[in-house]
Amino acid sequence: MKILLINGPNLQLLGRREPGIYGCISLGDVVGSVKELAGSLGCEVTDYQSNHEGSIVDRIGSAKDDGFDGILINPAAYSHTSVAIRDAVSAVALPTVEVHLSNIHTREEFRHHSFVTAVAVGVIAGFGADSYTLGLRALVSYLQKKK
Ligand code: DQA
Repeated sequence: MKILLINGPNLQLLGRREPGIYGCISLGDVVGSVKELAGSLGCEVTDYQSNHEGSIVDRIGSAKDDGFDGILINPAAYSHTSVAIRDAVSAVALPTVEVHLSNIHTREEFRHHSFVTAVAVGVIAGFGADSYTLGLRALVSYLQKKK
């Protein structure tokens, strides 16, 4: 089973970026823990981070042809603005789990809506780096039941 992990804008700064909200863990460590769990779940995770909406759209759009079975995504700020990323997830029709480090529903009102949620299998938010590992478990379990 192959999973594509996508991280959106500014997440390359994790660890240094507003640690009171996002924690002190770096993106490399978050990705490392997802890959470690993937190993024990018997799947393979490829990660991709971009600050560019079109690059993320391209990567999602080719995910099926690239052999991926599902997508784990933190669209970051694009969650709240991007119809293009939402449409890419819908178009590629791969099971997608949306994750957020913070609980977007307890923060500013503009973060309460995510365009991606409507086309995702589900969302995990508010557990810091654990949102990613919980998201991977949820996605793998969903894919296994679908087989
Ligand atoms: C985020 C929440 C978004 O509102 C924000 O723009 C981010 C990170 C999170 O993981 O909590 O960049 O997606």
